[in-house]
Amino acid sequence: MTQDYIEKNKDKFLNELFEFIKIPSVSADIKFKQEVLKAASFLEENLIKIGADNVQVFQTLGYPIVYADKIIDPNLPTILVYGHYDVQPADPYELWDSDPFNPVVKKTKIHPQGAIFARGACDDKGQMFMHLKAFEAMYKSNELYCNVKFMFEGEEEVGSSNLEKFVRSNIDLLKADVVLVSDTGIINNSTPSICVGLRGLSYVEVEVTGPNRDLHSGLYGGAVANPINVLSKMIASLHNENGTINIPGFYNDVIQVSNSDRKEMAKAPFNLEEYQSDLSIKEVYGEEGFTTNERNSIRPTLDVNGIWGGYIGEGAKTVLPSKASAKISMRLVPNQKSTNITNLFETHFKKIAPNYVKVKVTPHHGGEGVVIPTDFPAYLAAKKAMETTFGKTPIPVRSGGSIPIVPMFEEVLGLKTILLGFGLDSDVIHSPNEHFGLFNFYKGIETIPCFYKNYAEIMASEK
Ligand code: BES
Ligand code: MN
Ligand code: MN
Repeated sequence: MTQDYIEKNKDKFLNELFEFIKIPSVSADIKFKQEVLKAASFLEENLIKIGADNVQVFQTLGYPIVYADKIIDPNLPTILVYGHYDVQPADPYELWDSDPFNPVVKKTKIHPQGAIFARGACDDKGQMFMHLKAFEAMYKSNELYCNVKFMFEGEEEVGSSNLEKFVRSNIDLLKADVVLVSDTGIINNSTPSICVGLRGLSYVEVEVTGPNRDLHSGLYGGAVANPINVLSKMIASLHNENGTINIPGFYNDVIQVSNSDRKEMAKAPFNLEEYQSDLSIKEVYGEEGFTTNERNSIRPTLDVNGIWGGYIGEGAKTVLPSKASAKISMRLVPNQKSTNITNLFETHFKKIAPNYVKVKVTPHHGGEGVVIPTDFPAYLAAKKAMETTFGKTPIPVRSGGSIPIVPMFEEVLGLKTILLGFGLDSDVIHSPNEHFGLFNFYKGIETIPCFYKNYAEIMASEK
């Protein structure tokens, strides 16, 4: 039986995951190019080993897309599993308590059974690997109830720029009934949830230039505008007193969530005191009139992700810099269009620039938000699967993160996605000491086969 196979192979699964995690597949940094390619080869080999057919590594203009499938019966529904084998950069290295690419299991308060500490442990290697191992368990136990197609990319953390083209040119190959992704989270280990919303993203870099060269801040200071001072002031002006964003037209396409939906969302357990103490902050801050969970899910935001310029080395250097820059992300809610928001930002930012500086705005990757219904077969199958493995009905939750390929799947393939993730917000993905609970890893491997079984049943009953 599938669950027996899982029970017997827990250590093997974990050891294999460790081998996968040890490959530093950082897509953002070209220094790691060979490693990213190695991660793709690792997947190729593992897919062959576990019995998948048609295993192919598709080259793209960037990193390859690894594909495999198992079509056991054309009359059964087909699940398209998506995941990403690339990870975020590990730096700053000095803030890690252990080597980011040498996974170790440590117990924590939240993970008393232990958690795997490593870059990519949760986002997304640990989570995507659950799907390979769940498949292995189902297939080896002769209990695979759906056809499955795997599609793994190596560029999610840098904007998935080659995935859409691949999908558009392989529509037949990717034909399926639903997309299944584990790259989100649950509320906590005793409160299962299913992610039913993601925010969109508009990401820009701005550069403010003053004088044509760095100047002596004594000889010129006071007489020539300092680009860092100017940029700071411009950035500060992007929010109003009440926390709303001060860009004309920014909220035009925002759909207000109804009061009854807000009431429903507020039922998810949340403890503000714990939230604040976990972050060592005395008070939360955000848009007036919305709760913390609303601010980070159903409302758009604007945040500076990085800001630089001038002298930042040891000691003091008296300089009036020529340039100042910042990276700015705007999280968008469904119905806001990322290209439109980027344009609004650019127009506004140039408009508020004083005459004594020049401004350059460079758009980076972005994507649209999405809302997932809670009344279609795949949601019901996922809900029932979690009821079986957690013993509780999962709560539908909208997340603040972004996975821009999800709306693309709907547009290009006409497929809805089910976001069956098992991470926790406290797993600190993208940060030092990222981790993934062993409980979560194994719970995922146990829940996925239940999803397949329920999905096959529900789809058969609808025929
Ligand atoms: N897996 C995350 C997104 C995520 C995490 C969504 C947790 C919901 C809950 C994904 O890998 C990610 O980091 N996405 C980026 C956007 C992307 C375009 C680089 C993000 O949200 O910042
Ligand atoms: Mn991810
Ligand atoms: Mn990520």
